[in-house]
Amino acid sequence: MSLTKLAQILISEKLSSIDYGVDATCGNGHDSLFLAGLCSQEGMIYSFDIQEEAIDIAEKLLNDHNMPTSVMFVNSGHQNMEKVIKPKVDVVMFNLGYLPNSERNICTKPETTITALDSATNILRAGGLITVLCYPGTDEGRVETREVMNWLSKLNKDEFTVSEHLSEKPDDTTPVLYVIDKKS
Ligand SMILES: C[S@@+](CC[C@H](N)C(=O)[O-])C[C@H]1O[C@@H](n2cnc3c(N)ncnc32)[C@H](O)[C@@H]1O
Repeated sequence: MSLTKLAQILISEKLSSIDYGVDATCGNGHDSLFLAGLCSQEGMIYSFDIQEEAIDIAEKLLNDHNMPTSVMFVNSGHQNMEKVIKPKVDVVMFNLGYLPNSERNICTKPETTITALDSATNILRAGGLITVLCYPGTDEGRVETREVMNWLSKLNKDEFTVSEHLSEKPDDTTPVLYVIDKKS
C-alpha cells in the first residue's frame, strides 16, 4: 500500500467525521477529496497550494465528485495557515515535494514547511492528527526530511505522540510518513 493511502487510512481509523481539516499541499487534490469525504455538512476543508495550476486541477477533481462546496482553496503558502484559519482543526495533511508531472523546482521548502508545521500544531484540536509525508529521494527532499525529523524530535512529548511509517522496502531514499497525534 502507498504511504499516501496509508495516511488516509490512519486518519479515517481515528476520525470518522471531521468539522475542519487542512490539506497543506493541495497538489492534484486527492487528499482534499479524501478530507471532503470525511467532512460534516457544517464543516470546511482548507486546501493550500502556491500553484494556481494545482488548484485548478484539484477544483476539477472535487467538482467531478460533486464535492466542491466543503473545500476552500487558498492560493497561498501553507506557512500562512494561521492567518486564514480561525477554528481549531481536526486534521492537517502534508504531502511534501513537488506537483507530480510538473516543475520539480516548485516544491516545498524546509523553512516554510517548518513554519507551517508549527502553525499546524497551534491550530490542531486535542485528539487531532497531523500527517507528514516526506520524500528524501532528492537532494532538496533529503534536506527537508532531515529538518522535519529534527523538528519532530523537539515536539513536546507530553502533548504529542509521533509514529513513523516506512515503505515496504525502505532505504535512505524511500518516502517516510510521520503521524503526529495531539493527546486529548
Ligand atoms: C506532492 S504535491 C501534493 C500532492 C497532493 N497532496 C495530491 O493529493 O495530489 C506537493 C504540492 O505542494 C505545493 N507546495 C509547494 N510549496 C508550498 C507551500 N509553501 N504551501 C503550499 N503548497 C506548497 C506544490 O505546488 C505541490 O502542488
